[in-house]
Amino acid sequence: MVELLPSILSADFAHLADEIAAAERGGGTTIHVDIMDGHFVPNITIGPPVVASIRKATRLPLDCHLMIDNPNEYIAAFAEAGANWLSVHYEACTHLHRSLELIIHHGMKPGVVLNPATRVDLIVEILPMVHHVLIMSVNPGFGGQEFIHFSLDKIRRLADLRQEMGLKFKIEVDGGVAHDTVAAVVQAGAELLVAGNAVFGAGHPERDARSLLAAAREADDQITASRALGGKSKIH
Ligand code: DX5
Ligand code: ZN
Repeated sequence: MVELLPSILSADFAHLADEIAAAERGGGTTIHVDIMDGHFVPNITIGPPVVASIRKATRLPLDCHLMIDNPNEYIAAFAEAGANWLSVHYEACTHLHRSLELIIHHGMKPGVVLNPATRVDLIVEILPMVHHVLIMSVNPGFGGQEFIHFSLDKIRRLADLRQEMGLKFKIEVDGGVAHDTVAAVVQAGAELLVAGNAVFGAGHPERDARSLLAAAREADDQITASRALGGKSKIH
Protein backbone atom coordinates (compact mmCIF):
# COMPACT_ATOMS: atom_id res chain seq x y z
CA MET A 1 0.00 0.00 0.00
CA VAL A 2 1.61 3.28 -1.08
CA GLU A 3 1.52 6.36 1.13
CA LEU A 4 2.21 10.02 0.45
CA LEU A 5 4.44 11.94 2.87
CA PRO A 6 4.23 15.66 2.09
CA SER A 7 7.59 17.35 2.72
CA ILE A 8 7.03 20.76 4.27
CA LEU A 9 10.36 22.02 2.92
CA SER A 10 8.45 23.48 -0.04
CA ALA A 11 5.52 24.77 2.04
CA ASP A 12 4.88 28.36 3.10
CA PHE A 13 6.54 28.37 6.54
CA ALA A 14 4.44 31.35 7.65
CA HIS A 15 1.30 29.23 7.25
CA LEU A 16 2.56 25.77 8.11
CA ALA A 17 -0.53 24.56 9.98
CA ASP A 18 -2.80 25.43 7.03
CA GLU A 19 -0.39 23.92 4.52
CA ILE A 20 -0.18 20.67 6.49
CA ALA A 21 -3.97 20.50 6.89
CA ALA A 22 -4.41 20.94 3.13
CA ALA A 23 -1.86 18.22 2.34
CA GLU A 24 -3.66 15.92 4.78
CA ARG A 25 -7.01 16.57 3.08
CA GLY A 26 -5.27 15.64 -0.19
CA GLY A 27 -4.32 12.24 1.25
CA GLY A 28 -0.98 12.76 3.01
CA THR A 29 -0.69 10.29 5.90
CA THR A 30 2.65 11.26 7.52
CA ILE A 31 4.37 14.64 7.47
CA HIS A 32 8.00 14.65 6.33
CA VAL A 33 10.11 17.23 8.17
CA ASP A 34 13.59 18.08 6.85
CA ILE A 35 16.14 19.09 9.48
CA MET A 36 19.28 20.70 7.97
CA ASP A 37 22.25 22.19 9.79
CA GLY A 38 24.30 23.99 7.12
CA HIS A 39 27.17 21.52 7.67
CA PHE A 40 26.06 18.07 6.57
CA VAL A 41 24.07 19.76 3.80
CA PRO A 42 24.47 23.27 2.38
CA ASN A 43 21.17 24.59 3.73
CA ILE A 44 19.60 25.40 7.11
CA THR A 45 15.99 24.70 8.03
CA ILE A 46 14.44 24.10 11.44
CA GLY A 47 15.13 22.42 14.76
CA PRO A 48 13.26 20.94 17.74
CA PRO A 49 11.25 24.09 18.70
CA VAL A 50 9.54 24.22 15.32
CA VAL A 51 8.97 20.47 15.36
CA ALA A 52 7.25 20.92 18.74
CA SER A 53 4.93 23.54 17.20
CA ILE A 54 4.17 21.34 14.18
CA ARG A 55 3.39 18.53 16.63
CA LYS A 56 0.59 20.67 18.05
CA ALA A 57 -0.74 21.54 14.58
CA THR A 58 -1.46 18.00 13.29
CA ARG A 59 -2.31 14.54 14.55
CA LEU A 60 -0.40 12.90 11.69
CA PRO A 61 2.89 11.18 12.52
CA LEU A 62 5.99 13.34 11.98
CA ASP A 63 8.77 11.74 9.96
CA CYS A 64 11.89 13.75 10.84
CA HIS A 65 14.76 13.42 8.39
CA LEU A 66 17.98 14.53 10.05
CA MET A 67 20.50 16.02 7.63
CA ILE A 68 22.88 17.09 10.37
CA ASP A 69 26.34 16.27 11.69
CA ASN A 70 26.53 14.51 15.07
CA PRO A 71 22.88 13.39 15.02
CA ASN A 72 23.24 11.44 18.29
CA GLU A 73 23.48 14.72 20.19
CA TYR A 74 19.99 15.76 19.09
CA ILE A 75 17.98 12.52 19.18
CA ALA A 76 16.59 13.15 22.68
CA ALA A 77 15.57 16.71 21.75
CA PHE A 78 13.60 15.52 18.72
CA ALA A 79 11.88 12.83 20.79
CA GLU A 80 10.95 15.50 23.32
CA ALA A 81 9.64 17.73 20.51
CA GLY A 82 7.27 14.98 19.39
CA ALA A 83 8.94 13.34 16.40
CA ASN A 84 7.46 9.90 15.69
CA TRP A 85 9.88 8.60 13.08
CA LEU A 86 13.51 9.68 13.09
CA SER A 87 15.97 8.91 10.34
CA VAL A 88 19.72 9.47 10.31
CA HIS A 89 22.08 9.46 7.36
CA TYR A 90 24.48 6.54 6.98
CA GLU A 91 27.05 9.12 5.91
CA ALA A 92 26.64 11.17 9.11
CA CYS A 93 26.90 8.29 11.61
CA THR A 94 30.27 6.90 12.63
CA HIS A 95 28.41 4.44 14.87
CA LEU A 96 25.16 3.84 13.02
CA HIS A 97 24.11 0.91 15.19
CA ARG A 98 24.41 3.10 18.29
CA SER A 99 22.40 5.89 16.66
CA LEU A 100 19.57 3.50 15.80
CA GLU A 101 19.58 2.07 19.33
CA LEU A 102 19.33 5.59 20.70
CA ILE A 103 16.33 6.38 18.47
CA ILE A 104 14.61 3.17 19.59
CA HIS A 105 15.47 3.92 23.22
CA HIS A 106 13.65 7.25 22.88
CA GLY A 107 10.52 5.57 21.60
CA MET A 108 10.70 6.64 17.94
CA LYS A 109 10.63 4.54 14.79
CA PRO A 110 14.20 4.36 13.45
CA GLY A 111 15.17 4.97 9.85
CA VAL A 112 18.43 5.08 7.94
CA VAL A 113 19.01 7.31 4.92
CA LEU A 114 21.35 6.73 2.00
CA ASN A 115 22.69 9.49 -0.22
CA PRO A 116 22.53 8.79 -3.96
CA ALA A 117 26.19 7.70 -4.13
CA THR A 118 25.97 5.30 -1.16
CA ARG A 119 25.47 1.60 -1.91
CA VAL A 120 22.49 -0.23 -0.43
CA ASP A 121 24.63 -3.23 0.53
CA LEU A 122 26.49 -1.18 3.15
CA ILE A 123 23.50 -1.35 5.51
CA VAL A 124 22.62 -5.05 5.26
CA GLU A 125 23.61 -5.77 8.88
CA ILE A 126 21.37 -3.13 10.40
CA LEU A 127 18.29 -3.77 8.22
CA PRO A 128 16.63 -5.93 10.92
CA MET A 129 16.69 -2.87 13.26
CA VAL A 130 14.99 -0.31 11.06
CA HIS A 131 11.39 0.71 10.52
CA HIS A 132 12.23 2.36 7.21
CA VAL A 133 15.09 2.92 4.79
CA LEU A 134 15.08 6.24 2.99
CA ILE A 135 16.64 6.24 -0.46
CA MET A 136 17.62 9.77 -1.45
CA SER A 137 16.90 10.29 -5.11
CA VAL A 138 18.52 13.76 -5.10
CA ASN A 139 21.53 15.04 -3.20
CA PRO A 140 19.99 16.29 0.03
CA GLY A 141 19.71 19.97 0.83
CA PHE A 142 17.08 21.48 -1.42
CA GLY A 143 13.62 20.86 -2.76
CA GLY A 144 12.67 20.88 -6.42
CA GLN A 145 15.71 19.03 -7.76
CA GLU A 146 15.75 16.55 -10.61
CA PHE A 147 15.22 12.86 -9.81
CA ILE A 148 18.42 10.78 -10.12
CA HIS A 149 17.40 7.74 -12.12
CA PHE A 150 19.85 5.17 -10.84
CA SER A 151 17.97 5.46 -7.53
CA LEU A 152 15.46 3.05 -9.09
CA ASP A 153 18.13 0.32 -9.15
CA LYS A 154 18.80 0.96 -5.47
CA ILE A 155 15.10 0.66 -4.61
CA ARG A 156 14.92 -2.64 -6.50
CA ARG A 157 18.05 -3.92 -4.74
CA LEU A 158 16.59 -2.97 -1.36
CA ALA A 159 13.26 -4.62 -2.15
CA ASP A 160 15.13 -7.80 -3.15
CA LEU A 161 17.15 -7.74 0.09
CA ARG A 162 13.98 -7.25 2.12
CA GLN A 163 12.43 -10.30 0.52
CA GLU A 164 15.59 -12.44 0.83
CA MET A 165 15.98 -11.51 4.49
CA GLY A 166 12.27 -11.91 5.32
CA LEU A 167 12.03 -8.38 6.72
CA LYS A 168 9.20 -5.86 6.79
CA PHE A 169 10.87 -2.44 6.86
CA LYS A 170 9.34 0.20 4.60
CA ILE A 171 11.12 1.64 1.59
CA GLU A 172 10.89 5.42 1.43
CA VAL A 173 12.00 7.64 -1.44
CA ASP A 174 12.82 11.33 -1.20
CA GLY A 175 13.71 13.79 -3.94
CA GLY A 176 12.18 14.59 -7.31
CA VAL A 177 9.10 12.44 -6.71
CA ALA A 178 6.50 13.99 -9.00
CA HIS A 179 3.98 13.07 -11.68
CA ASP A 180 6.65 12.07 -14.18
CA THR A 181 8.60 9.82 -11.78
CA VAL A 182 6.13 8.44 -9.25
CA ALA A 183 5.01 5.40 -11.25
CA ALA A 184 8.59 4.21 -11.77
CA VAL A 185 9.35 4.70 -8.08
CA VAL A 186 6.33 2.61 -7.04
CA GLN A 187 7.07 -0.05 -9.65
CA ALA A 188 10.63 -0.32 -8.35
CA GLY A 189 9.26 -1.26 -4.92
CA ALA A 190 8.93 1.89 -2.78
CA GLU A 191 5.84 2.49 -0.67
CA LEU A 192 6.57 5.69 1.26
CA LEU A 193 6.66 8.57 -1.18
CA VAL A 194 8.05 11.89 0.01
CA ALA A 195 7.13 14.87 -2.13
CA GLY A 196 7.77 18.55 -1.48
CA ASN A 197 7.68 20.60 -4.64
CA ALA A 198 5.06 18.37 -6.29
CA VAL A 199 2.69 18.94 -3.35
CA PHE A 200 3.38 22.51 -2.21
CA GLY A 201 5.25 24.13 -5.12
CA ALA A 202 2.24 25.40 -7.07
CA GLY A 203 0.31 26.66 -4.05
CA HIS A 204 -2.45 24.02 -4.24
CA PRO A 205 -1.35 21.34 -1.79
CA GLU A 206 -4.70 19.61 -1.40
CA ARG A 207 -5.29 19.29 -5.14
CA ASP A 208 -1.70 18.37 -5.96
CA ALA A 209 -1.33 15.84 -3.13
CA ARG A 210 -4.52 14.16 -4.26
CA SER A 211 -3.48 13.85 -7.89
CA LEU A 212 0.04 12.63 -7.06
CA LEU A 213 -1.35 10.00 -4.71
CA ALA A 214 -3.84 8.93 -7.37
CA ALA A 215 -0.99 8.41 -9.85
CA ALA A 216 0.95 6.40 -7.23
CA ARG A 217 -2.08 4.23 -6.44
CA GLU A 218 -2.69 3.59 -10.11
CA ALA A 219 0.87 2.26 -10.47
CA ASP A 220 0.39 0.18 -7.31
CA ASP A 221 -2.88 -1.27 -8.62
CA GLN A 222 -1.16 -2.28 -11.86
CA ILE A 223 1.43 -4.22 -9.87
CA THR A 224 -1.28 -5.96 -7.85
CA ALA A 225 -3.13 -6.85 -11.03
CA SER A 226 0.02 -8.17 -12.66
CA ARG A 227 0.72 -10.35 -9.58
CA ALA A 228 -2.84 -11.70 -9.67
CA LEU A 229 -2.23 -12.71 -13.28
CA GLY A 230 0.86 -14.62 -12.17
CA GLY A 231 3.25 -11.97 -13.42
CA LYS A 232 6.53 -11.08 -11.85
CA SER A 233 6.46 -9.68 -8.32
CA LYS A 234 7.74 -6.35 -9.55
CA ILE A 235 8.18 -4.61 -12.84
CA HIS A 236 11.77 -4.03 -13.98
C1 DX5 B 1 15.81 17.28 0.21
C2 DX5 B 1 14.78 16.86 1.22
C3 DX5 B 1 13.48 16.51 0.63
C4 DX5 B 1 12.82 17.58 -0.18
C5 DX5 B 1 12.28 16.89 -1.38
O1 DX5 B 1 17.05 17.31 0.81
O2 DX5 B 1 15.22 15.76 1.99
O3 DX5 B 1 12.57 16.00 1.61
O4 DX5 B 1 11.79 18.26 0.45
O5 DX5 B 1 11.80 17.85 -2.22
P1 DX5 B 1 11.22 17.57 -3.67
O6 DX5 B 1 10.07 16.62 -3.49
O7 DX5 B 1 10.83 18.92 -4.08
O8 DX5 B 1 12.34 16.99 -4.49
ZN1 ZN C 1 13.72 14.72 3.29
